[in-house]
Amino acid sequence: MIKLTSPKFDQDEVDFVSKCLESGWVTQGPMVQEFEKRIAQRQQVAHALATTSCTAALHLGALSLGLKPGDEVIVPAFTWITSAHAVEYVGAKAVFADVDPITFNLDPVAFEAAITPNTRAVVVVHLFGLAAPMDEIMAIAKKYSLLVIEDAACAIGTRYDGKPVGGIGDVGCFSFHPRKVITTGEGGALTTNRDELPPVVNAYRCHGFSGYPTNDSGQTHPYTMGSFDYLGFNLRLSDIQAAVGLAQLNKLDGLLAERCAAANSYSSLLAEIEEVAIPTVPAKCGHTYQSYVIRIQKGGVARRNLIMDEFQRQGIQTRPGTHAVHRLGYYAKKYGIDEAEFPNACDCEDTTITLPIFPGITIEDQMQVVACLKSSI
Ligand SMILES: Cc1ncc(COP(=O)(O)O)c(C=O)c1O
Repeated sequence: MIKLTSPKFDQDEVDFVSKCLESGWVTQGPMVQEFEKRIAQRQQVAHALATTSCTAALHLGALSLGLKPGDEVIVPAFTWITSAHAVEYVGAKAVFADVDPITFNLDPVAFEAAITPNTRAVVVVHLFGLAAPMDEIMAIAKKYSLLVIEDAACAIGTRYDGKPVGGIGDVGCFSFHPRKVITTGEGGALTTNRDELPPVVNAYRCHGFSGYPTNDSGQTHPYTMGSFDYLGFNLRLSDIQAAVGLAQLNKLDGLLAERCAAANSYSSLLAEIEEVAIPTVPAKCGHTYQSYVIRIQKGGVARRNLIMDEFQRQGIQTRPGTHAVHRLGYYAKKYGIDEAEFPNACDCEDTTITLPIFPGITIEDQMQVVACLKSSI
């Protein structure tokens, strides 16, 4: 069996978790603080706030930026569903725009065409670890005064024109799910350079807590109950998870290097198969290969599925790239979307295959994957 992905843990994670458990402080404690500090340093941003998932970070981003009913937010039509759900959680409307079929990322022309007088923001996704075309996207956002939420779920370590993604727009959102480059089991982070956002994000992530009331002399008592000025949630990462995250962050450069090496091996092994399109990396766009996604250029979904059946038979786990979200029941029904409105997203969903990639995958495994592909094409 060659698995699609596999996290890499060793004694470091065990040691960090032991230290956390022995301290008796398992949430909202020093490990979370240290994890946030390290993420902010690594991503070159002023603030990082750890969350229960990237979906939670996206939700907190939408809340703290004040998105609300009546607002429209542009979302790429090919992405994980929660890039759009986060917009709908706050009562705003997710409006889809098609993607570039070669890079899988938001097409700036489609983005601009989807803007209406009600558009307030865009969710830009750095899909599979490839940076989106941020110069074009930021220029359009500036022209129409739009807020920019970067969905960098797949893209810790990715750079655009030398700058880490997630710190270019108003907020960045990262995932530490096990399919991502580093993992805390479940987990995420919101990053921002806007100094006024962290207190609001913090309040929403912590039941709506907004500080301690003071008496006339400006003092609080140790037993003072907090104030709650927001309808908040509990979206906090625990210190146990942050402990795993700290060990993982120490490995990040090595993990990224291993992924890139494995991706390069695939790209050379696949170069001669004409019908397979390998990942394309445009100028300025970094790629960290959270997923290595190929396209089968002829034969549509039927042929792609036959190839995936063969992978399955040979014990090789694969998946389609991701969803054409506008086709999924919630959005298709709510907005009566005709799937043909976003042909590139449909084509991406129908013709892509994510190949196994993870630190520790061997060249023999990769050759087996490519041999299976060759035999079934
Ligand atoms: C582009 C994108 N956004 C958001 C998410 C959600 O991340 P999480 O599972 O941490 O909520 C994912 C997860 O796969 C993703 O790929």
